[in-house]
Amino acid sequence: MSLLDVTDLRVSFPTADGVVQAVRGVSFSVDTGRTLGIVGESGSGKTVLTQTLLGLTPGSQVSGTAMFNGVNLIGLGPDQMRRIRGEQIAVVFQDPLTSLHPLYRVGWQIAEMIRAHDKSVSRKQARERAIDLLGRVGIPQPSRRVDDYPHQFSGGMRQRAMIAMALSLSPKLIIADEPTTALDATVQAQILDLLLRLQQESDTALIMITHDLGVIADIADEVMVMYAGRAAEKASKHDIFYAPHHPYTKGLLESIPRSSAAADRLKPITGQPPSLIHLPSGCAFHPRCAYVMDRCLTEEPQLRSVGDAGAHKSACWLPAAAIGTAEAAEAARRRAVGEGRHAAAARVAEEIAASPEGSVIA
Ligand SMILES: Nc1ncnc2c1ncn2[C@@H]1O[C@H](COP(=O)(O)OP(=O)(O)OP(=O)(O)O)[C@@H](O)[C@H]1O
Ligand code: SF4
Ligand SMILES: [Mg+2]
Repeated sequence: MSLLDVTDLRVSFPTADGVVQAVRGVSFSVDTGRTLGIVGESGSGKTVLTQTLLGLTPGSQVSGTAMFNGVNLIGLGPDQMRRIRGEQIAVVFQDPLTSLHPLYRVGWQIAEMIRAHDKSVSRKQARERAIDLLGRVGIPQPSRRVDDYPHQFSGGMRQRAMIAMALSLSPKLIIADEPTTALDATVQAQILDLLLRLQQESDTALIMITHDLGVIADIADEVMVMYAGRAAEKASKHDIFYAPHHPYTKGLLESIPRSSAAADRLKPITGQPPSLIHLPSGCAFHPRCAYVMDRCLTEEPQLRSVGDAGAHKSACWLPAAAIGTAEAAEAARRRAVGEGRHAAAARVAEEIAASPEGSVIA
């Protein structure tokens, strides 16, 4: 059993326009000392998925289980959840200003967090702990900066302060939701290094949410690629980068700039993410998929093993041999498309090809 085992989690929001199916049956596990990277476009359900684990999606309808350290987080009462949140599971958000109160000193906020969870800690001890934590996350002159207000910190320092706050109660799991998106590349790399170092020091489990495969390359052990509220592909970091199976994963890889010289070979993924109220039939990726086949229009593929080890899973109708970026894999994809694409899918493929960034496989 892992530290966190999520099984068939579904989250939807009834709205005036219809039911938003934000998370549609997602399962994953995270072990102590490991990092799970969750990657996907905006709106794919990454934040809703993890906020639901912490009871932070009011108004949602939730089913499934999320066993954390022997406790099912789904349906937990507010008091029990408050004890777990912060103390056992900490969250680092993209924008620290949403979590740091602008009118209170940074150190005071960290100290209060410590005291709120452990009344036996004195004000003086909590302040000393805050100074120690600010030092650990690389804030210079922490005994002086502990009395600064959030606006006196740079963006990178605020993010470090957030991490200090997350660490203050020695959680077993940290959920970092786009923690570096607002930062420039150098500071981003420093923050990722910091998270990794702290994780290794204390053997914490980490869930890193990002839309940036570069961040995944730096930090993840296992990766879950999300598309339209589902896991499109799950694999080790190595397999995601060197042996992708799902065309969406392949598209994400082809759309990241590796170097400025390669910029002219970038292939953005065609089209827009789908509406989560009116989902496409069959495979939700089919209106954007260059490999679309007839069955993709009507049958939704489930995750199934594609690699040898069994840990590599993809939700796509292409054969298991269509794995990786080599010519043999592309030939396997072309063969499958040749056999599986008839009039209906051919029309969809033509529409994709006619779009500005379109390409067609046949
Ligand atoms: N309270 C809510 N009511 C209705 N729909 C919601 C609510 N919260 C989120 N959603 C919808 O759920 C879907 C998933 O949102 P989510 O924030 O999880 O995406 P994300 O993958 O984190 O995107 P981003 O990369 O932009 O942060 C979106 O379509 C969003 O509009
Ligand atoms: S080949 Fe079919 S099942 Fe696979 S991603 Fe494309 S549309 Fe979906
Ligand atoms: Mg998000």
